[in-house]
Amino acid sequence: STNIVVAIDGYSSCGKSTLAKALAKKLHFIYVDSGAMYRAVTLYLLRNNIDITDEKAVEAVLPDIHLNFHSRDYQTHILLNDEEVSDEIRLMPVSNNVSPVSAIKAVRTEMVKQQQRMGKSKNIVMDGRDIGTAVFPNAPLKLFMTADPKVRAERRFKELQPTNPDITLEEVFENIAHRDYSDTTRKESPLVRAEDAIILDNTNLTPEEQLQFALDRVEPLL
Ligand code: C5P
Repeated sequence: STNIVVAIDGYSSCGKSTLAKALAKKLHFIYVDSGAMYRAVTLYLLRNNIDITDEKAVEAVLPDIHLNFHSRDYQTHILLNDEEVSDEIRLMPVSNNVSPVSAIKAVRTEMVKQQQRMGKSKNIVMDGRDIGTAVFPNAPLKLFMTADPKVRAERRFKELQPTNPDITLEEVFENIAHRDYSDTTRKESPLVRAEDAIILDNTNLTPEEQLQFALDRVEPLL
């Protein structure tokens, strides 16, 4: 039998990683957070003062960026050149710059290559923006997640507030709106629902209900 890839795409902050992690844990699949990869690349560029609007400059440093996941549990531990950056990639400087970075063709080509390698022979759940369209167009199960933008901003705000006491709901809402706009309108692999992706609007669903929705659709494939 062949390996199974579950592709989860959707808008920013609509619970893709929460569902993907829960699903991977339940199924004993490997969870891959593709957004963390674009975030780690962005962090590298910011730290090294690379002009993110200069595609040639970005392309030139890509070989210096080495990403690794370690998956002892189902949390995302991402290493950027052997340094754990899992927390730093969630902060606003990265959130505010990741969409233009992810729109650069050379960045996408490299990330997609690495992502395809991870799903070559293992059962995985991968979440992102182009997993069902560009990374694994033949995935046997694709989910496309969406939720009311205000509900998404409130959820993300609640998540960030304890460690970022200065953050405002408005700022979080603006960031989500900007990323949705940029991600859906960019030229390279814009965020779009794959024709065969199942829509999951979780505005009024609990995490448990979302997990059940996904499990009901994976189980026939096992
Ligand atoms: O998933 P997350 O919100 O952490 O992703 C951060 C950003 O990375 C997205 O807003 C998007 O610009 C980019 N991204 C992407 N393709 C993916 C995953 C993320 O372009 N597969």
